[in-house]
Amino acid sequence: MKHIRREAPIQRALMEFAEKQPKRFHVPGHKGGHCIQPNAYPTHQTVMKWDVTELTGLDDLHHPEGMIADAQMLAAQTFFAEQTFFLVNGSTVGNISMILATMNRGKQVLVQRNSHKSIFHGLALAGAEAIFLEPEVCPTFAVPIGLHVETVKQAVGKYPKAKGLILTYPNYYGMAGDIQEMVEYVHHKGLFVLVDEAHGAHFGQYTGLPPSAMNLGADISVQSTHKMLTSMTMTSMLHVQGNRVSRADLKYYLQSLQSSSPSYPLMASLDLARQFIQDRTEDDWRLSIAEYEELRTQIGQAGYVASSLIVQEANQFRVEMDPYKLTIRSIEGLSGYALQERLEQKNIYCEMADPQNILLTLPLDPVEEWNQALVQELQNIYVQHKPKTYVEPHISISSKHKEGKIGQPIVMKSYREHEQQEVLFSSSIGKIATEMIIPYPPGIPLILSGERITSEAIQSITQLQEKGAYFQGKNRGFKTIKVEV
Ligand SMILES: Cc1ncc(COP(=O)(O)O)c(C=O)c1O
Repeated sequence: MKHIRREAPIQRALMEFAEKQPKRFHVPGHKGGHCIQPNAYPTHQTVMKWDVTELTGLDDLHHPEGMIADAQMLAAQTFFAEQTFFLVNGSTVGNISMILATMNRGKQVLVQRNSHKSIFHGLALAGAEAIFLEPEVCPTFAVPIGLHVETVKQAVGKYPKAKGLILTYPNYYGMAGDIQEMVEYVHHKGLFVLVDEAHGAHFGQYTGLPPSAMNLGADISVQSTHKMLTSMTMTSMLHVQGNRVSRADLKYYLQSLQSSSPSYPLMASLDLARQFIQDRTEDDWRLSIAEYEELRTQIGQAGYVASSLIVQEANQFRVEMDPYKLTIRSIEGLSGYALQERLEQKNIYCEMADPQNILLTLPLDPVEEWNQALVQELQNIYVQHKPKTYVEPHISISSKHKEGKIGQPIVMKSYREHEQQEVLFSSSIGKIATEMIIPYPPGIPLILSGERITSEAIQSITQLQEKGAYFQGKNRGFKTIKVEV
């Protein structure tokens, strides 16, 4: 588009407004940083000059016609969409809105089981009937990846009334399963495809990266721009293309769920993140990815198994790795949580840990000193810990695709619709859960509300607790769960 392509319209308008030194007889109450605690950071005060509201010339997120419309249009072009909506409450609000805009009470939808809790909250608010599909598992790191195309085809055959398919692509660990064939297949069968692409905001921007969900034909994708790109926390984008989803319905729910006073600094940071991507050169991508290949090699030499960039293929299940995510399998006798703790003692902070692994999100522009410190400390830990068994860095993906990955339909109920009581784990087996049990991160529920509780699920909670996992909204060592009366 035209002359503003390399500009950041929101940022420019906010700077121009602040430079005028306006007399601010409008909200917010800090008046551009005039009324502020004296001990506030100087940078905080600078940001406050831009923290404005829907004044003349500064547009309105809920009815954009000026700089926000321009910024969203530029984003749509950059992220391969027909239309893009800025989100100021993370991908959470995008996921919930896309579900409410497409699902009605009692209607069936196919849903990847290892979804983020915002997907389940959206389904419960919509009152949808969800058929959960089990993902393939990566045996090297013991983490769920994505759905096998055969699972989706079988589910469509079994539940021909399903209206749509909800996928997560990639998973938290940056593993991007091949979704192209399933998108084409379900479209052909008349279903829409919604993709939670929270961890893939940079996808499709360079040939060495996996394609984005928009590239692969999804109807809607939601990307946390703040996660792998450079905008501020809480900022995300929702992209849409085609005519399977009503744009009017989407706008309605985004307006219902998002603040009527969205933060301008947050919106400006989305605009700047889009500009950051446009200004990035082929060399920026290529050199940083090469540097991370080298980092992976060094971590392997230090005795650990690090996620490889090699595309894995088996049983039509193809996985591409995000080069900017690094999964490191911990050594024998040291859980992922323990390894995370050891690194933190040396001021090295990971994105998250699970029982076996740590996960690092790598800066798009590498920091040599951080990489060296990481390798050095991993070497130290290895030497101090002296693992007895060296584990071969064998990377493989799913075992043979198995039948039986399609769950029974579950009517998703919202919180107050349940009649519930709290019982000890030991009395919960066989009962229907009325709450989600969510190890955090990654925020993927272990038990879903509406699911029958199994002894395996309770065992997994206990094992995770022993290894030091944190469960959202729960006290450490909790031993009870809410179930249907
Ligand atoms: C897969 C996935 N989807 C959605 C979300 C929610 O994103 P946000 O934090 O931007 O609301 C997360 C957050 O971790 C996530 O991991």
